[in-house]
Amino acid sequence: MFLTHLSCAGCGLRHEWASLQNLCTGCQKPLFPIYDLAAVGRVLTREALTTREKSLWRYREVLPLPEGVEPVSLGEGGTPLLRAAKFGARCDIANLWVKDEAQNPTQSFKARGMAVAVSMARFFGATRLAVPTAGNAGGALAAYAARAGLEAHIFMPRDTPRANIIECRELGANVVLIDGLITDCGAEIARRKAAEGWFDMSTLKEPYRVEGKKTLGYELAEQLNWALPDVILYPTGGGTGLIGMWKAFDEMEALGWIGSARPRMFSVQASGCAPIVRAFEAGQAAAAEFPNAQTCASGLRVPKAVGDFLMLRILRESNGGAITVEDEEMIRVTREVGSAEGLFVAPEGAACFAALPKLLAAGKVSREESIVIFNTGSGIKYLECYEL
Ligand SMILES: Cc1ncc(COP(=O)(O)O)c(C=O)c1O
Ligand SMILES: [Zn+2]
Repeated sequence: MFLTHLSCAGCGLRHEWASLQNLCTGCQKPLFPIYDLAAVGRVLTREALTTREKSLWRYREVLPLPEGVEPVSLGEGGTPLLRAAKFGARCDIANLWVKDEAQNPTQSFKARGMAVAVSMARFFGATRLAVPTAGNAGGALAAYAARAGLEAHIFMPRDTPRANIIECRELGANVVLIDGLITDCGAEIARRKAAEGWFDMSTLKEPYRVEGKKTLGYELAEQLNWALPDVILYPTGGGTGLIGMWKAFDEMEALGWIGSARPRMFSVQASGCAPIVRAFEAGQAAAAEFPNAQTCASGLRVPKAVGDFLMLRILRESNGGAITVEDEEMIRVTREVGSAEGLFVAPEGAACFAALPKLLAAGKVSREESIVIFNTGSGIKYLECYEL
């Protein structure tokens, strides 16, 4: 195993990895796993990857689980990078791609993070896992906890899409519906976790979900033959996907697998909940809580994220940006993408498709560039949104 320690993304304080941990004990910011990449580079080459299993565990050397420990797995990762030729042609873009994360277990990219985080939690002996969720992270935790033989306690807003609620229950989780937002769900867990003996699996409040998510970046590079695209459009709520990919790019550069060029990263949010877009436009380093958050893209209904400062830093460092989309635009473009590409995308993924013509019109993205959209989930979980 090549994990050496955890490092605080806020103050840099070093933490030992070998116990269950949440945020930095010094400043309450997220902890990131750090690897001995020089040693990884000596045992793992890009070529060696080609013969490995088609799951995120093909990147085992840059994942935290100690050697010999069996991961909790449902076959996560290894999703296709599909050309979106027809939708691209309509926007006059030759090089448009979709990373289709709906093809993960539980139909969203949340499976990646939970596979790694649940594997680590079980390794450390946790037995009761709790998570606040907009929907898909709950389904993923319920599935991996069931697989691992652990308890899952899932806190969701009462108006979370029905499919997510039913899914969690059928996977054997204890589901609590809260009259409020994901932030209220998180606060409820924080209040009760000590007494209940729960381990808090909140986005970026434990160190390993981001490690699962970073495999999005490894896969993307591998699928594009170790050349990254010019532009990435990513629907951001808590931001782990964006933050994880950025970490993967740095790791791959340290491994000598890619160069120093980076895609311009764009955060796509709903106009009814756009804390990152607002902060980006205002030139702020952190994002204020977004009032009265509302959107049918439940994964984007995150009014306040612990990783806000990290997202904003990445958007600026990459020379990317942040943009909002109306719910109506997401729903309208879903059928366009569906009929053109054969993908029933989640509203969050649809938001990125809807953002594309706007970014082109604003001159933020150009038609000659290679562009990758992340479809983070499946429309099948959001049937309420289409009953218009
Ligand atoms: C389908 C979907 N897309 C995007 C997001 C936002 O992801 P992140 O927290 O990585 O920003 C979520 C989160 O719930 C989601 O369920
Ligand atoms: Zn710190």
